[in-house]
Amino acid sequence: MKILIIGAGYVGLSTGVVLSESHEVRLLEIDRARVEAINRGESPIYERGLDTLLKERLAEGKLRALHTSDEIGPMDAVFICVGTPSGSDGSVDLSQVESAADFIMNHLDELLKDYLVIIMKSTVPPGTTRRYLVDRIEDQHLLDRAGVVFNPEFLREGTALDDSKNPDRTVIGCTTSKEFEVVRSIYEPIIDKDSGPYLHTNIESAELCKYASNSFLATKISFSNEIANIAEQIPGADIGEVMKCVGLDSRISPRFFGSGAGYGGSCFPKDTLGLMRVAEDLGISTPILSAVDTVNKQRPLRLVNMLESLLGNLSMQRVTVLGLAFKPNTDDTRYSPALRVIELLQNRGSIVRVHDPLAPRIVQKLELPNGVEATNDLEESLTDADAAVLVTDWPVYKETGLSGLTRFMKSAVLVDGRRVFSEEEVPSSIQYITVGRTKKSET
Ligand code: UDX
Repeated sequence: MKILIIGAGYVGLSTGVVLSESHEVRLLEIDRARVEAINRGESPIYERGLDTLLKERLAEGKLRALHTSDEIGPMDAVFICVGTPSGSDGSVDLSQVESAADFIMNHLDELLKDYLVIIMKSTVPPGTTRRYLVDRIEDQHLLDRAGVVFNPEFLREGTALDDSKNPDRTVIGCTTSKEFEVVRSIYEPIIDKDSGPYLHTNIESAELCKYASNSFLATKISFSNEIANIAEQIPGADIGEVMKCVGLDSRISPRFFGSGAGYGGSCFPKDTLGLMRVAEDLGISTPILSAVDTVNKQRPLRLVNMLESLLGNLSMQRVTVLGLAFKPNTDDTRYSPALRVIELLQNRGSIVRVHDPLAPRIVQKLELPNGVEATNDLEESLTDADAAVLVTDWPVYKETGLSGLTRFMKSAVLVDGRRVFSEEEVPSSIQYITVGRTKKSET
């Protein structure tokens, strides 16, 4: 099939590379530099395996990025994969979605051959797909030739390619069976046969399912962090053990109970707040979602207070923050807890250095606060430090070990914000504290 994808960001590019295994894909992207990088085979996003696959698809002529609509001809499907960032008040900014929908409606005569399916993949408030696409197609009496579908993605950064090929479920929110069958025929040659089911539902339920899914995962994390706060006051209790027991209940599942610095990234914070605003606009209160967000926002402060409990006054202390990305295996720092930890440390007068394995890529896109240096040289970042705060659980920290990390430091003081190390791994010479359990000395 011939497929156009509007937006070549994390979702659009990953989806385009995966779909071009079996289909002819064109990526329409507004950022010319991004278009040129993609067509050179250089992925602008850090995604394991993406560069290699991208080069292969380009060489096969199955995939190409476009900056303008000049070369767009008839398509079988058009995906909308543009960003829906949070506004300052938590509301969902739909300006990119509106532009993409306008583009499609204004180019229907070029795009529409026999039958065209328009697939909204961007995370949008329920009702958006109908308002921006279905109603407009209906007004032009084209519903017999153009279908509209909401098809959420559940891709995690760092594993987007695997998640694309092995989804737990493929949700297709649509009105007619024809729309469902066309979208299923797009994915069928791509998705591994033992992947999860195709779910045929209506558009609004699919839109809401995406928000509910991310908000529930965020809820699991904040729940675990709340129980961790309790466990820290009970000598002997360990949140890891507690949530292992909880997760063994087949109704619950053990995943996403990892307590620590809290969640960041381009989705959980945005989608939890976005769903709260959707509810607010409907006059519905969301005390659970509000609490999830409140608990999460307190995590960086928890880590800095832990450090203060070890060092006393933080003023003029040289503190190294380990990890800048919002999670390992990505260079994305959106809503990263590390950014808030850095701010809190600076507010208390600390001299902050940052380590991240991808620091050279990150600092090209991220303006760090004044006085903060970032490096991918672990020894350099830790030399003469009075303390370190581990915020992102990059494998290199576990691999280096506590002795390895602290031997460059002026004093061996470490706050483990991701429970990377077990108590047994903590030499008595190191002042160590983590979330969800009391310090060994206090048990
Ligand atoms: C998430 C969803 O997993 C994905 O389905 C959706 O499509 C997009 O949002 P992503 O944000 O890329 O994916 O990363 P994810 O691996 O889910 O982690 C999100 C945040 O939660 C990270 O900051 C991570 O550190 C944190 N996290 C995750 C925890 O704090 N504890 C956990 O147990 C798991």
